[in-house]
Amino acid sequence: MTVSCSDVNSAMRWRSSCRPLLLLLSFLTLLVGRETVSGFRICSYNVDNFNLAKASNYRLVHTLTRVVHRCDICLLQDVVDPDGKVVRTLLSAINRESHRYDNYVYQSVSSKGLGKSVGDKKKYVFIYRTETVNVADQHQYETKPPTFAREPFAVQFESRMTVIKKFILVPVHTDPPQAVQEIDRLYNVFEKVREKWNSTNVMFLGDFHAACAHMNRSDKKKIRMFTNTNFTWLIGDKVDTTVSEDTSCAYDRIVVYGKPFLKAISPTSAKVYDFGKELKLKKSKVSDLSDHFPVEVELKSSALINSAALLLQATPLLILLSASAIVHFFL
Ligand SMILES: *[C@@H]1O[C@H](CO)[C@@H](O)[C@H](O)[C@H]1NC(C)=O
Ligand SMILES: *[C@@H]1O[C@H](CO)[C@@H](O)[C@H](O)[C@H]1NC(C)=O
Ligand SMILES: *[C@@H]1O[C@H](CO)[C@@H](O)[C@H](O)[C@H]1NC(C)=O
Repeated sequence: MTVSCSDVNSAMRWRSSCRPLLLLLSFLTLLVGRETVSGFRICSYNVDNFNLAKASNYRLVHTLTRVVHRCDICLLQDVVDPDGKVVRTLLSAINRESHRYDNYVYQSVSSKGLGKSVGDKKKYVFIYRTETVNVADQHQYETKPPTFAREPFAVQFESRMTVIKKFILVPVHTDPPQAVQEIDRLYNVFEKVREKWNSTNVMFLGDFHAACAHMNRSDKKKIRMFTNTNFTWLIGDKVDTTVSEDTSCAYDRIVVYGKPFLKAISPTSAKVYDFGKELKLKKSKVSDLSDHFPVEVELKSSALINSAALLLQATPLLILLSASAIVHFFL
């Protein structure tokens, strides 16, 4: 005997015959919300002198596009882009290839060119998914005289997909001989943005040069982000963020302030993304792009919104089939 939910007219009978289906739906909601939601990914990548020549190289841009498409927010460092053409070119390539991934539309927010000499200006560039996050505010850190070779460019992001709704990302790409001093001075930047936005949800990320020849164990005592235990270093000292097999240095780091932010991060999600291995690319394809790998971390997503969104995305046929299977089973 087959009874479909729609051909029962009394409310009583509807409820009893369709209860398995309702159960199944709530079960699916739970399942989807808990298990299959991937977090909100933040990435940081030193793209090593990314200039117009690199941005015009289809092969390189294609690889970079695959890296960026994994991320809700991707910070690129060492971008040489005096007139904005490099970011425009890259962004249009990323959006052009979007149909291969999840059809997200990407946007960017960039600092001005930063650096000691006129001929050596680099930008911090955040590329982000417009569907999952937006820029609430931005702030270029500046002191006279400058205390960083490339002063941090803080951006406050806002997302309804994450447990933490608003957070501040502070990039830094240090000057190697000054790495220890510059990393220590990030504490001043922390104080500045905390005051500006009345928030301690701050994440520092970038190529700190926090390893090998540029920072050792005794240097750590001079760095407030180490001595103040409210900071958590998510990429540890033993991680290798370099591409070369001859080096093993944890140059690229991600650091967060405070318990509230730490709790909003997926445990053990912070890691190096070895896209050569993951995407099965030739060594040269990786090293032509940069001598660094990207590092990344995931923020926990707010399950309710995601389960609803995913349920809508899930194939209705699949739900229908499993529902009818269960209804049959119970009848
Ligand atoms: C700053 O934020 C805290 C909560 O995090 C709030 O209690 C306080 O009123 C805020 N201060 C200002 C000046 O907005
Ligand atoms: C650590 O590096 C500093 C320079 O940054 C150097 O003066 C010091 O001797 C080094 N310490 C060790 C234990 O290698
Ligand atoms: C660490 O955070 C707590 C809570 O916000 C604060 O009371 C304390 O002063 C902080 N410690 C340091 C060393 O800044």
